[in-house]
Amino acid sequence: AHQWRGVIREYADRLPVEETTEVITLGEGGTPLVYAPALSQLVSGTVYLKVEGMNPTGSFKDRGMTMAITAAVAEGAKAVVCASTGNTSASAAAYATQAGLTCAVLVPAGKIAMGKLSQAVAHGAELIQVDGNFDGCLDIARKLSENYPVFLVNSVNPARIEGQKTGAFEVVDALGDAPDYHLLPVGNAGNITAYWKGYKEYSQPWTNPYAGASGEELPAMASHTPIMWGFQAAGAAPIVMGHPVTEPETVATAIRIGNPASWEKAEAARDESAGVIEAVTDEEILDAHRWLSSREGVFVEPASAAGVAGLIKKHSAGEVPADKTIVITVTGHGLKDPDWALKNADGSDVTPTMVPQDVETVARQLGL
Ligand code: F0G
Repeated sequence: AHQWRGVIREYADRLPVEETTEVITLGEGGTPLVYAPALSQLVSGTVYLKVEGMNPTGSFKDRGMTMAITAAVAEGAKAVVCASTGNTSASAAAYATQAGLTCAVLVPAGKIAMGKLSQAVAHGAELIQVDGNFDGCLDIARKLSENYPVFLVNSVNPARIEGQKTGAFEVVDALGDAPDYHLLPVGNAGNITAYWKGYKEYSQPWTNPYAGASGEELPAMASHTPIMWGFQAAGAAPIVMGHPVTEPETVATAIRIGNPASWEKAEAARDESAGVIEAVTDEEILDAHRWLSSREGVFVEPASAAGVAGLIKKHSAGEVPADKTIVITVTGHGLKDPDWALKNADGSDVTPTMVPQDVETVARQLGL
């Protein structure tokens, strides 16, 4: 019987690890690529969702965090730090716990979803709420790591990008080739950077340049790279606008970021792939969130629906060609931030029906 061994062991020949590396893993990766019938019908193509909420802490961050915490241990670090809109902190806290490291997380006060906050607390992280936004938190985290003995595990750490590129490998492994298009939300822009790196490495013969690798040339696994379409929230769309946004605002708190660390790499992914980075409104994000839960059976957090919102928007604009294979990364689990599901489209609260304890009343209520 084979059990998935986490992204480092599954893709060791394509990552900067050595055979003797002590691997910190919670079994991340190996997430399902789920066919999306309603979206496929909408665009007259084949649409799949890479469901990253199925990772151990409920988001794609785990792919990068297994690498970052493994690197921290290899360097003899005792403490790690990150800035986060919530998912990175949940992931860092969990992986640091397994490694026996102290974990400090800096989050924007009042702007992170309750599920994520509870994860960081449950795993015993040192939780600091900063009176500012994510960009300010990242600035502090960087300076802490430069001036104090703490190891930075944000995606400005290249180990994070290395781990996250395995998302692209898994898509190609599942489909047998790269898709025509890959869509995803863009916040701090680490993930679009990572997917593009993964797709590029998988589309050509490749030799692992890292110490400890066999030095063997690995074959190309894909015949081409996809066109990358990234989507920012309209109130937090610095790459789209071409300048930092000092007060980013969006209901998709995970991508409420005004000055992404991997800005230029995201632009490179866009330009090298002949893709786009565009904005979607909060309303479009919440519509896509509802579409996923009510039509595809996939429950995600609002930010995770930005790629789907982007597809629907581009389709309405007549910009999605028919008969294409399209993969959309849905980045985090719906249970991270469940409140949105309890709101109707008009913003009012969903109220469950109350009935007396009686079969006939329930049957009548159900229209049976
Ligand atoms: N989707 C979710 C659910 C996220 O948590 C994030 C980023 C993104 C998309 C955007 O990915 O930053 O690589 O462009 N969350 C970070 C955090 C910022 O702190 O958890 P990105």
